[in-house]
Amino acid sequence: MGATSGVTVAVIGAGYVGLTTAACLSSLGHHVVCADVDQEKVDALRRGEATIREPGICELVVDGLASGRLEFVLGASAAAAGADIVILCVPTPMGATGAADLTALESVVTEVRDLLPHGCVVVNKSTVPVGTAAHVSALIDRADVAVVSNPEFLREGFAVHDFLNPDRIVVGSADRDPVPARRVAALYEHLDTAVLVTDSSSAELIKYASNCYLATRLSFVNTVAELCEYLDASIDDVTAGMGYDDRIGKAFLRPGPGWGGSCLPKDTFALLRTAESAGSDFALLRAAIDTNVKQQELVVAKVRKAAGGDLAGVRIGLLGLTFKAGTDDLRDSPSLAIAARLAAEGAELSGYDPSVHAPVPGVTDDVRIAGTAYHAAKGAAALVLLTEWPEFRDLDWGRIADRLHGRAVIDTRNLLDPLTVARTGLSYQGIGRPGSTRAPAVAMVAQAG
Ligand code: UGA
Repeated sequence: MGATSGVTVAVIGAGYVGLTTAACLSSLGHHVVCADVDQEKVDALRRGEATIREPGICELVVDGLASGRLEFVLGASAAAAGADIVILCVPTPMGATGAADLTALESVVTEVRDLLPHGCVVVNKSTVPVGTAAHVSALIDRADVAVVSNPEFLREGFAVHDFLNPDRIVVGSADRDPVPARRVAALYEHLDTAVLVTDSSSAELIKYASNCYLATRLSFVNTVAELCEYLDASIDDVTAGMGYDDRIGKAFLRPGPGWGGSCLPKDTFALLRTAESAGSDFALLRAAIDTNVKQQELVVAKVRKAAGGDLAGVRIGLLGLTFKAGTDDLRDSPSLAIAARLAAEGAELSGYDPSVHAPVPGVTDDVRIAGTAYHAAKGAAALVLLTEWPEFRDLDWGRIADRLHGRAVIDTRNLLDPLTVARTGLSYQGIGRPGSTRAPAVAMVAQAG
């Protein structure tokens, strides 16, 4: 991108969404001033050091700094004062009731409202409850400042890719006012994608409905996987067959130990609370959440069975602690939830994760962190694969078999080749893969003609 757009954007919050937004918008030609309250973070970013683990982010930060289009400042006021558009990317964690906690958002808005230049547009990019744009607008209380909802749909580990190659851009303004909506949509004009302009409540709900649909889809798949075990069917084949239907699609059909991370659990609870407050019973969503808890219990039951029915004092090896592969994020990780359940039954846990090199106090307390997968397996009655790090496929399974005390390998991600594991004398169990060592999981037969 050569010339600058002439638009100055303030991004408030240099976390995973904020930093990705700031770096990508500067790469699209806008002048971006990104603010954070953490002096150390600001200093690191000014030196060109990425403070989040995302492929491509470091290069964009370095390029942005070099071009002069990307700056980092301490505090929201310093960024907001000269901005045409102020994008709020502050955390909205889950509060005690399951509803989103808007304290950080409200405090930033209160801090900057009198500093905002005339005609400025304030954008909510954080995932916020339906009605928050109207609430922010009331807090700002200025007729010359519009508030627009522009939710992000970034996956951790693919944030830069998803920002620059979006499936859609959603922009919601009060009463569908096209003027501020167009100004926000123009930030993305170099991206080849659909832009949906709507009212702010609909935009806010699109974000929640998308994440909650994905969570529900996974709970559905995990339940079908359980059914496969009763019916002697293969979830690999069932989801492959479902995925050919364009109305269903192939993505997001992998069974697992339950869904987790910083978004899906928080957003499902928040939408449930929103529905309750609106007087609506979102029973399907509640079932999706309950099914997710049950999925963790099913994994624990498999491990307990493999250990002979009692986990007290039994050593169990764990492969993978993060909520998914390609991240070092342990927030709401199903691996750790399962570890906590196993530890509560008295199991002694040794876990290896390629991105976790030391214990994280208060987070990984149930697990002794092992330096390699082989160390995690040493003396264990069972080895449980919980995160789908591709490198686990390439482990020396003969060496693992030598290290393990018991024979059970429980693959909650269906990542491993059952035959490779079984050949070493180990007993393989996946999720929804009964009899998986009898024949290749998916047999494709080409049709003649
Ligand atoms: C999710 C959404 O996918 C993003 O679109 C959204 O922007 C983001 O939340 C957010 O709200 O910020 P992310 O939390 O990075 O992104 O994680 P996903 O890749 O969606 O995975 C969520 C969970 O589902 C993980 O525990 C993952 O292991 C699990 N999963 C995913 C499966 O078990 N099977 C699948 O087929 C896919």
